[in-house]
Amino acid sequence: MRIDIITIFPEMFVGPFNHSIVKRAQEKNIVEIYLHQLRDFSTDKHRKVDDYAFSGGAGMVMMIEPIAKAIEHLQNERHYDEIIYTSPHGELFDQPIANRLSTYVNLIILCGHYKGIDERIRQHFITKEISIGNYVLSGGELAAAVIVDTLVRLIPGVLGNEVSALSDSFQNNLISPPIYTRPRDFRGWKVPDILLSGNERLIEEWKYNQALQRTQKYRPDMLNEK
Ligand code: ADE
Repeated sequence: MRIDIITIFPEMFVGPFNHSIVKRAQEKNIVEIYLHQLRDFSTDKHRKVDDYAFSGGAGMVMMIEPIAKAIEHLQNERHYDEIIYTSPHGELFDQPIANRLSTYVNLIILCGHYKGIDERIRQHFITKEISIGNYVLSGGELAAAVIVDTLVRLIPGVLGNEVSALSDSFQNNLISPPIYTRPRDFRGWKVPDILLSGNERLIEEWKYNQALQRTQKYRPDMLNEK
């Protein structure tokens, strides 16, 4: 998979993309991530990429020209399956969306800023607008990093143990059951006996019931989905 990110703050991705799973996926050449400075596509001598809204009102608007140039520059080289724009007004990002996006070959993510983008960008270039939650970030970069992290770990070969991505919370509409490691007893806080019993059938049953109880308690909404 190839992901091209168009942003005015490429440095914001240095941390998230150079550690852990996302780093390893790039080292294994399973994913290629390219960061593009939107200002490089500005025609203005000050590398301006935003301007006042015709409607007036507070806040700057991202201009169409640099964004069109950046996207078309990439599209001249290859076909993109989806051109994503990160904004609080988009479709709420969730595991099914991530699963689908993780099967694509080439993606562009445009990171939003200021008050928004010129509407014509949405009409003529963007194929999917994604929000990572019902709150407003200072810009789309953190959202793009969240999306990339979520997708990359789903691509076959990225995680050592492939079943683990599928058994994650949300993949089966249940929150994961509690897990424990050594020591068996820490300050008298004990690991549940059943997990030490060696009885696989009872352990599986216990895990399922725990997952169900946790979901009922913390995320009852998940049990009503689909
Ligand atoms: N940009 C600002 N807020 C956002 C959000 N919640 N999701 C995606 N992009 C954003």
